[in-house]
Amino acid sequence: MKEVLVLYYSHTGAVREMAQAVARGVEQVEGAGARVRTVPKVSTVCEATEPQVPAAGAPYVELKDLEDCIGLALGSPTRFGNMAAPLKYFLDSTGELWLKARLAGKPAAVFTSTATLHGGQETTLVSMMLPLLHHGMVLVGLPYSQSELFSTAGGGTPYGASHHAGVANEHPVSELERKLCIALGRRLAQVALKLDR
Ligand SMILES: Cc1cc2nc3c(=O)[nH]c(=O)nc-3n(C[C@H](O)[C@H](O)[C@H](O)COP(=O)(O)O)c2cc1C
Repeated sequence: MKEVLVLYYSHTGAVREMAQAVARGVEQVEGAGARVRTVPKVSTVCEATEPQVPAAGAPYVELKDLEDCIGLALGSPTRFGNMAAPLKYFLDSTGELWLKARLAGKPAAVFTSTATLHGGQETTLVSMMLPLLHHGMVLVGLPYSQSELFSTAGGGTPYGASHHAGVANEHPVSELERKLCIALGRRLAQVALKLDR
Protein backbone atom coordinates (compact mmCIF):
# COMPACT_ATOMS: atom_id res chain seq x y z
CA MET A 1 0.00 0.00 0.00
CA LYS A 2 1.41 3.40 -1.04
CA GLU A 3 0.46 6.36 1.15
CA VAL A 4 -0.49 9.97 0.42
CA LEU A 5 0.16 12.42 3.26
CA VAL A 6 -2.87 14.55 4.18
CA LEU A 7 -1.32 17.32 6.28
CA TYR A 8 -3.47 20.08 7.74
CA TYR A 9 -3.75 22.72 10.43
CA SER A 10 -7.15 23.58 11.88
CA HIS A 11 -8.13 25.81 14.78
CA THR A 12 -11.92 25.50 14.81
CA GLY A 13 -12.40 22.26 12.89
CA ALA A 14 -13.40 23.25 9.34
CA VAL A 15 -10.11 22.29 7.67
CA ARG A 16 -9.97 19.10 9.79
CA GLU A 17 -13.35 18.08 8.33
CA MET A 18 -12.08 18.84 4.82
CA ALA A 19 -8.93 16.78 5.49
CA GLN A 20 -11.11 13.79 6.38
CA ALA A 21 -12.97 14.13 3.06
CA VAL A 22 -9.71 14.48 1.11
CA ALA A 23 -8.44 11.33 2.88
CA ARG A 24 -11.65 9.53 1.91
CA GLY A 25 -10.99 10.45 -1.73
CA VAL A 26 -7.42 9.12 -1.49
CA GLU A 27 -8.70 5.83 -0.08
CA GLN A 28 -11.19 5.40 -2.94
CA VAL A 29 -8.19 4.68 -5.18
CA GLU A 30 -7.10 1.07 -5.17
CA GLY A 31 -3.57 0.69 -3.84
CA ALA A 32 -3.55 4.08 -2.09
CA GLY A 33 -3.93 4.87 1.61
CA ALA A 34 -4.09 8.21 3.46
CA ARG A 35 -1.67 9.13 6.24
CA VAL A 36 -3.39 12.03 8.09
CA ARG A 37 -1.17 14.35 10.12
CA THR A 38 -1.37 17.80 11.70
CA VAL A 39 1.03 20.41 13.13
CA PRO A 40 1.14 21.96 16.63
CA LYS A 41 0.17 25.57 17.20
CA VAL A 42 3.03 28.08 17.33
CA SER A 43 3.30 30.74 19.99
CA THR A 44 4.93 34.14 20.26
CA VAL A 45 5.78 33.05 23.83
CA CYS A 46 8.89 30.94 23.33
CA GLU A 47 8.41 29.06 26.60
CA ALA A 48 5.03 27.68 25.52
CA THR A 49 5.32 24.11 24.28
CA GLU A 50 2.78 21.61 23.02
CA PRO A 51 2.76 18.03 24.30
CA GLN A 52 4.63 15.65 21.97
CA VAL A 53 1.43 13.80 21.19
CA PRO A 54 -1.77 15.82 20.61
CA ALA A 55 -4.62 15.22 23.07
CA ALA A 56 -6.97 14.29 20.21
CA GLY A 57 -7.05 14.01 16.43
CA ALA A 58 -4.27 13.28 13.97
CA PRO A 59 -0.67 12.80 15.17
CA TYR A 60 1.87 15.54 14.55
CA VAL A 61 3.74 15.31 11.28
CA GLU A 62 7.44 14.44 11.06
CA LEU A 63 9.79 15.13 8.16
CA LYS A 64 9.89 11.39 7.56
CA ASP A 65 6.17 11.44 6.69
CA LEU A 66 6.96 13.71 3.73
CA GLU A 67 9.71 11.34 2.60
CA ASP A 68 7.67 8.17 3.06
CA CYS A 69 4.58 9.34 1.18
CA ILE A 70 4.14 9.44 -2.60
CA GLY A 71 2.01 12.63 -2.56
CA LEU A 72 0.92 15.47 -0.31
CA ALA A 73 -2.46 17.14 0.32
CA LEU A 74 -1.89 20.30 2.33
CA GLY A 75 -4.77 22.06 4.13
CA SER A 76 -4.83 25.36 5.98
CA PRO A 77 -7.39 27.92 7.15
CA THR A 78 -6.97 31.36 5.62
CA ARG A 79 -5.02 33.83 7.74
CA PHE A 80 -5.27 37.27 6.11
CA GLY A 81 -5.35 35.70 2.65
CA ASN A 82 -2.39 33.48 3.41
CA MET A 83 -1.67 30.09 4.96
CA ALA A 84 -1.65 29.76 8.77
CA ALA A 85 1.64 30.21 10.64
CA PRO A 86 1.81 26.71 12.19
CA LEU A 87 1.83 25.13 8.75
CA LYS A 88 4.32 27.66 7.38
CA TYR A 89 6.51 27.05 10.43
CA PHE A 90 6.58 23.34 9.66
CA LEU A 91 7.32 23.96 5.97
CA ASP A 92 10.18 26.24 7.01
CA SER A 93 11.76 23.21 8.71
CA THR A 94 11.95 21.25 5.43
CA GLY A 95 15.16 22.90 4.14
CA GLU A 96 17.17 19.70 4.30
CA LEU A 97 14.61 17.83 2.19
CA TRP A 98 14.65 20.74 -0.26
CA LEU A 99 18.48 20.68 -0.56
CA LYS A 100 18.38 16.96 -1.29
CA ALA A 101 15.35 17.35 -3.65
CA ARG A 102 13.55 14.60 -1.72
CA LEU A 103 10.08 15.84 -2.69
CA ALA A 104 10.91 16.75 -6.29
CA GLY A 105 8.55 15.03 -8.72
CA LYS A 106 5.97 14.09 -6.10
CA PRO A 107 2.43 15.45 -6.66
CA ALA A 108 0.73 17.85 -4.23
CA ALA A 109 -2.71 19.42 -3.81
CA VAL A 110 -4.00 22.17 -1.51
CA PHE A 111 -7.24 22.99 0.31
CA THR A 112 -8.47 25.82 2.53
CA SER A 113 -11.37 27.30 4.51
CA THR A 114 -12.33 30.95 4.93
CA ALA A 115 -14.81 32.87 7.07
CA THR A 116 -15.98 35.08 4.18
CA LEU A 117 -16.68 34.09 0.60
CA HIS A 118 -14.23 36.53 -0.94
CA GLY A 119 -11.80 36.49 1.99
CA GLY A 120 -8.88 34.96 0.13
CA GLN A 121 -9.52 31.34 -0.83
CA GLU A 122 -7.57 31.59 -4.08
CA THR A 123 -4.71 33.65 -2.63
CA THR A 124 -4.35 31.20 0.25
CA LEU A 125 -4.31 28.23 -2.09
CA VAL A 126 -1.70 29.88 -4.32
CA SER A 127 0.41 30.91 -1.30
CA MET A 128 0.44 27.28 -0.22
CA MET A 129 1.64 26.20 -3.66
CA LEU A 130 4.75 28.42 -3.61
CA PRO A 131 6.91 26.41 -1.17
CA LEU A 132 5.74 23.20 -2.85
CA LEU A 133 6.94 24.52 -6.23
CA HIS A 134 10.32 25.33 -4.65
CA HIS A 135 10.45 21.69 -3.59
CA GLY A 136 9.82 20.65 -7.20
CA MET A 137 6.46 19.12 -6.42
CA VAL A 138 3.94 18.65 -9.24
CA LEU A 139 0.72 20.51 -8.47
CA VAL A 140 -2.65 18.84 -8.94
CA GLY A 141 -5.82 20.97 -9.05
CA LEU A 142 -9.46 20.37 -9.89
CA PRO A 143 -10.46 20.34 -13.59
CA TYR A 144 -13.81 21.79 -14.74
CA SER A 145 -14.85 18.28 -15.78
CA GLN A 146 -15.71 18.26 -12.09
CA SER A 147 -19.07 19.89 -12.87
CA GLU A 148 -19.63 21.20 -9.30
CA LEU A 149 -17.10 23.92 -10.12
CA PHE A 150 -19.69 25.48 -12.45
CA SER A 151 -22.52 25.51 -9.93
CA THR A 152 -20.89 26.27 -6.59
CA ALA A 153 -22.18 29.28 -4.65
CA GLY A 154 -19.71 28.55 -1.84
CA GLY A 155 -16.28 26.92 -1.88
CA GLY A 156 -14.60 25.01 -4.71
CA THR A 157 -11.91 26.32 -7.06
CA PRO A 158 -9.72 24.92 -9.82
CA TYR A 159 -6.70 25.68 -7.59
CA GLY A 160 -7.88 23.24 -4.94
CA ALA A 161 -10.79 22.47 -2.62
CA SER A 162 -12.20 25.23 -0.43
CA HIS A 163 -14.94 25.88 2.10
CA HIS A 164 -16.90 28.98 3.08
CA ALA A 165 -17.30 28.57 6.85
CA GLY A 166 -19.01 31.87 7.80
CA VAL A 167 -17.78 34.42 10.31
CA ALA A 168 -19.03 32.39 13.27
CA ASN A 169 -18.10 29.09 11.61
CA GLU A 170 -21.83 28.58 11.12
CA HIS A 171 -21.74 26.80 7.75
CA PRO A 172 -20.86 23.11 7.86
CA VAL A 173 -18.89 21.78 4.89
CA SER A 174 -21.59 21.53 2.19
CA GLU A 175 -22.23 18.39 0.16
CA LEU A 176 -20.82 20.12 -2.92
CA GLU A 177 -17.67 21.26 -1.08
CA ARG A 178 -17.23 17.77 0.37
CA LYS A 179 -17.56 16.20 -3.10
CA LEU A 180 -14.76 18.44 -4.35
CA CYS A 181 -12.54 17.52 -1.36
CA ILE A 182 -13.08 13.85 -2.15
CA ALA A 183 -12.45 14.46 -5.87
CA LEU A 184 -9.21 16.26 -5.05
CA GLY A 185 -7.99 13.43 -2.82
CA ARG A 186 -8.91 10.85 -5.44
CA ARG A 187 -7.21 12.73 -8.27
CA LEU A 188 -4.08 13.29 -6.18
CA ALA A 189 -3.85 9.58 -5.31
CA GLN A 190 -4.35 8.56 -8.96
CA VAL A 191 -1.58 10.90 -10.13
CA ALA A 192 0.68 9.87 -7.24
CA LEU A 193 0.40 6.18 -8.10
CA LYS A 194 1.13 6.91 -11.79
CA LEU A 195 4.18 9.06 -11.00
CA ASP A 196 5.48 6.53 -8.49
CA ARG A 197 5.73 3.80 -11.13
C1 LIG B 1 -6.01 35.72 12.55
C2 LIG B 1 -7.06 35.24 11.61
C3 LIG B 1 -7.06 35.70 10.30
C4 LIG B 1 -8.06 35.30 9.42
N1 LIG B 1 -8.06 35.78 8.14
C5 LIG B 1 -9.10 35.50 7.32
C6 LIG B 1 -9.16 36.07 6.02
O1 LIG B 1 -8.25 36.76 5.55
N2 LIG B 1 -10.26 35.81 5.27
C7 LIG B 1 -11.29 35.04 5.73
O2 LIG B 1 -12.28 34.88 5.02
N3 LIG B 1 -11.21 34.42 6.93
C8 LIG B 1 -10.15 34.65 7.74
N4 LIG B 1 -10.08 34.05 8.97
C9 LIG B 1 -11.09 33.02 9.34
C10 LIG B 1 -10.62 31.56 9.17
O3 LIG B 1 -9.81 31.37 8.05
C11 LIG B 1 -11.86 30.66 9.03
O4 LIG B 1 -12.64 30.80 10.20
C12 LIG B 1 -11.55 29.19 8.77
O5 LIG B 1 -12.74 28.57 8.34
C13 LIG B 1 -11.06 28.46 10.03
O6 LIG B 1 -10.72 27.13 9.73
P1 LIG B 1 -10.58 26.05 10.90
O7 LIG B 1 -11.97 25.83 11.46
O8 LIG B 1 -10.06 24.80 10.25
O9 LIG B 1 -9.64 26.58 11.92
C14 LIG B 1 -9.07 34.40 9.85
C15 LIG B 1 -9.04 33.91 11.17
C16 LIG B 1 -8.06 34.33 12.04
C17 LIG B 1 -8.06 33.79 13.45
